[in-house]
Amino acid sequence: MPPVQFHILESLSPADLAAQARAGLLQAAATVSPKFLYDALGSRLFDAITALDEYGLTRAEAMIFASAGALIARETRARIGRPFDLVDLGAGDCAKAAQLIPLLRPMRYLALDIAVEHLQPALQRLRHAHPELPLLGIGTDFSARLQLPPTLCPGPALVFYPGSSIGNFDPQAALRLLVQARELAAGGALLIGVDLLKEKAELEAAYDDALGVTAAFNLNLLRHLNRLVGSDFDPRQWRHLARWNDKAGRIEMHLRARQALVVRWPGGERHFAADEGIHTENAYKWTLPAFAELLRDAGWRQPRPWCDERKGFAVVLAN
Ligand code: AVJ
Repeated sequence: MPPVQFHILESLSPADLAAQARAGLLQAAATVSPKFLYDALGSRLFDAITALDEYGLTRAEAMIFASAGALIARETRARIGRPFDLVDLGAGDCAKAAQLIPLLRPMRYLALDIAVEHLQPALQRLRHAHPELPLLGIGTDFSARLQLPPTLCPGPALVFYPGSSIGNFDPQAALRLLVQARELAAGGALLIGVDLLKEKAELEAAYDDALGVTAAFNLNLLRHLNRLVGSDFDPRQWRHLARWNDKAGRIEMHLRARQALVVRWPGGERHFAADEGIHTENAYKWTLPAFAELLRDAGWRQPRPWCDERKGFAVVLAN
């Protein structure tokens, strides 16, 4: 059994990440990237979210792969036409790739994630299910720039970006990421999941569930920041807020101060008035035509969507 190889890229420098988080906290309207939601606990809380009644995305996507996976894999292999690597962006628990690997039959599996502590055990589990497949774990933050050393991924690759994480990027940043994904694919293809526009009430419930798991997921970002920047956030002083921004076409997650307070860290501090917030995530929702246009703008050809029955979610293949 080949061992699981692991690489940590420079983008994961804790000093750089801490500097980014501090800069975000000091903006007039405090904003920190949703990537800070994913420490070890945050990744587990996200996995719990995917099991919630209100959060249909993951189930809808799994349903598409269950019913059309064989067809999608066949078309993917036909479009690429030669052996390829499977490159999983934000692999998390690797569950989606695990389902597709037997159908796609890639040469190698490259799992990228910012949460290295979560990825490592996931790859070890995958190792037992696929003892002969070369596995490569890559700790990286691809949100600013998606790029791998050519020695790690010479191509061609199927870039796999499931779960609608593309929704975390505003349209301009999404376009940039998709252009970079095309370079990374090096003549391969893209298989991407996207959550589609739907009723406001349903969207808001998906990001503010009855059990408070999403609230815990959002609040946990404060614990992560405390470790990363040495701040003294008290999560009890904050509450979770999720709301649909109709003009921008996105769900926004915020943390709101329950009272006026001060947060301190080595070399800095930030005052928050009561009800002042930190913007922690955007989740853009797309229509199929708009998303197909985005893919074409990024240079991807022949986008072909597969949808769930109620057209709430799409998996799109392009090359
Ligand atoms: C992992 C980015 C797809 O936006 O739906 C879940 C993260 N945030 N609940 C999403 C998330 C709140 C999720 N993505």
